[in-house]
Amino acid sequence: MKILPEKTAEMSRLAQKIREHNEKAVGETGQPLTACVKTFGCQMNEHDSEKLKGMLKQMGYDIVPDYSITNFTLIPDVIVFNTCCVRENAEDKIFGQLGAVKGAKRIKPELIVAVCGCMTEQEWVVERIKKSYRHVDIVMGTGNTYRLPEYMAARIFDRRRMIGAEPEDSLPEGVPVSRDEKFKAYVTVMYGCDNFCSYCIVPYVRGRERSRLPDDIVKEVKELADGGTKEVMLLGQNVNSYGKGAEGDGTDFAGLIRRICRETDIKRIRFMTSHPKDLSPELIRAIAEEPKVCRQLHLPVQSGSTPELKRMNRKYTREQYLELVRKVYEAVPDITLSTDIMIGFPGETEEEFEDTLSLLEEVRFDAAFTFIYSKRQGTPAAARPDQVPSDVVNRRFARLTETQNRIGREKNEALVGKTLEVLVEGPSKTNAMRLTGRTEGNKIVNFEADAGCDGGSSKKLPEAGNIVRVKITGAETWSLEGVYYEE
Ligand code: SAH
Ligand code: SF4
Ligand code: F3S
Repeated sequence: MKILPEKTAEMSRLAQKIREHNEKAVGETGQPLTACVKTFGCQMNEHDSEKLKGMLKQMGYDIVPDYSITNFTLIPDVIVFNTCCVRENAEDKIFGQLGAVKGAKRIKPELIVAVCGCMTEQEWVVERIKKSYRHVDIVMGTGNTYRLPEYMAARIFDRRRMIGAEPEDSLPEGVPVSRDEKFKAYVTVMYGCDNFCSYCIVPYVRGRERSRLPDDIVKEVKELADGGTKEVMLLGQNVNSYGKGAEGDGTDFAGLIRRICRETDIKRIRFMTSHPKDLSPELIRAIAEEPKVCRQLHLPVQSGSTPELKRMNRKYTREQYLELVRKVYEAVPDITLSTDIMIGFPGETEEEFEDTLSLLEEVRFDAAFTFIYSKRQGTPAAARPDQVPSDVVNRRFARLTETQNRIGREKNEALVGKTLEVLVEGPSKTNAMRLTGRTEGNKIVNFEADAGCDGGSSKKLPEAGNIVRVKITGAETWSLEGVYYEE
């Protein structure tokens, strides 16, 4: 299943050919060619965008963050939509933006429009683009994004429209990556999902679970650390299933993490997502024992009601989840816990919803990502007759966010007075005199240097990429305030 090195080498050759073609065009006009990649989905999707940008750079395009559909000079030469379909509103938004790009193509006919990502793995989407979005040049699936140079070459040299590539369950090793951040990096450890939660489209659009080889992952983290990266986020829809396929050498996820700790100079390791049904005691131990593994865990619960969890096909009960959280807190008392929660799953009763609220109070998550159930064609839940009316869902959603916001703020307030290690990311967005960074628990801290006791001559702020100690002085719902003391 693994992509042979010659496959990626062939893509690099094609990218080079496009680059030469582009350089000639630039020579004639003096205008650099540009490309814009729009990301709509999760971290996995963001990381795929980094690969798309890496390949586009290899083809000689400058990457621009955004585009205009009316101003000729702000219309790039390539626009890629890296789509998500986990909820309906994401899909609606994408179709809207895709339609609008038609105008840009009228102004700049040579514009290449490509669509990839999870949405394009649905047949009806490909058909709709084929028929109603004739200005789209390229449609790729999630498994063959690495072939972008091939599709671009067909479009540029043969003027062919490339819609709906063959499905491919590949592991794209060696694809160039243009990373959005300097000191933090995403590293995919596995692709796909085999869990089939009854509401979720991901297993259908991302395919079966495939794990990368431990050696390939360790090598990537090593190279990142040697290049100045301080923190890696290991990605997979369910990282605890890492290594379960036939390809690996028996290394499980905890084993992989231990290897990364031992064999690389990376300073911080995070990972997501862990499915509660198979969070292993070994992994909890690794979080407790390995200083490089951040004491932070994202553990999506979805619901606090056992019958609702059963209908969701989550394969654990409320009690099992609570027991798991107890074990995690016992092993790592100061761990930062976050979760995903869904409201309005078909048949959700008031009592089931109350159970979810009470679970929030019991666990006291630092953060919860809350979602309203969205019907996804082809999933078992979509066929259920007992969909919850939207006014009921909205009322529940408001109560849920209110409860979690209060708890999140209280948890942050409990950190005031403590000194935490913060990875400095750069100047704060709202005030260039202040810095922003992330704690080990992945909380945002906005901080300034202590003015010192000499009457206010402010001390030098640490540079981005350093891990420094910051005293927490204030708390908001979503972030912390702090002061840095030079040591
Ligand atoms: N693999 C991850 C989740 C990926 S999707 C996990 O199991 O936790 C991220 C979140 O989107 C899910 O946790 C779920 O809360 C939400 N989600 C998935 N399908 C959804 C749907 N049909 N409607 C609303 N939210 C959904
Ligand atoms: Fe979707 Fe469930 Fe897989 Fe997560 S574990 S991606 S929610 S099917
Ligand atoms: Fe991610 Fe959306 Fe796909 S959440 S896996 S980009 S459907």
